[in-house]
Amino acid sequence: MKLFCVGCGPGDPELLTVKAVNTIKTAEVIFAPTARENKPSIALSVVERYLTESTKTVSLVFPMIKDKESLIDHWRRNALQIASAVKSQKKVVYLTVGDPTLYSTWTYIQRELSHNHEGIEFEIIPGVTSMSAFAARAKMSLAEGDETIAVIPACYDLNRIRQVARYCDTLIFLKDGRYFDRVIEMLSETGFADNSAIAIAQDISADGEILEMKKLRDLVGIKGPVEKYFSIMVAKKTHDRE
Ligand SMILES: C[S@@+](CC[C@H](N)C(=O)[O-])C[C@H]1O[C@@H](n2cnc3c(N)ncnc32)[C@H](O)[C@@H]1O
Repeated sequence: MKLFCVGCGPGDPELLTVKAVNTIKTAEVIFAPTARENKPSIALSVVERYLTESTKTVSLVFPMIKDKESLIDHWRRNALQIASAVKSQKKVVYLTVGDPTLYSTWTYIQRELSHNHEGIEFEIIPGVTSMSAFAARAKMSLAEGDETIAVIPACYDLNRIRQVARYCDTLIFLKDGRYFDRVIEMLSETGFADNSAIAIAQDISADGEILEMKKLRDLVGIKGPVEKYFSIMVAKKTHDRE
């Protein structure tokens, strides 16, 4: 009994590994996350061209809420559905956007299956992360030499961001572009140089992509260019060599 978790990359259907595509093409049942009932799954839309007529697809709701009890209840029910399909001897795939090991619903499914559904093996097929796709589009090196990088969800604790900002050369902010304006203000107050490079993107490698390269000073006090959950911002300290 084996379950495959496939990372389907940032949105461009050509940014999947050969192994990911082969696994999807031979799957009998594909589960994929969505934030709400009847909202199409982004991960499923990315792989649409690789599905055959007989592939069964199932969207599972992972609501974007902070109520832990309700979340755990959704994780349990979703894991149970997946486990039942795997136990029926079908070839089952769980799809996830980007890479399955980075801020992914897969983490909850893997934990639930390990704790409550013994005997199911899993194989994780990595995907291109949104930050790699972003860096490629922006033609921006994320780090070189002795530089350090932090990956930070923008929608939680500003104080933690402030601390990390002191020590790291490159800050990569994921999760929800609506929080980026307040992060910009904080970076400027924390002493990030006003000529630091700031790249902001939304829907990288998908329809309606936005990508802007600025200096910190250009963004302080204004409304930034992105307003969706699928956004990334990279803040990079400028060194003498630049
Ligand atoms: C739940 S996390 C998933 C991260 C994903 N597993 C990865 O490897 O990139 C969702 C966040 O990833 C980022 N993201 C994923 N795909 C993106 C895209 N195509 N464009 C911009 N940001 C994206 C956004 O910050 C979004 O809020």
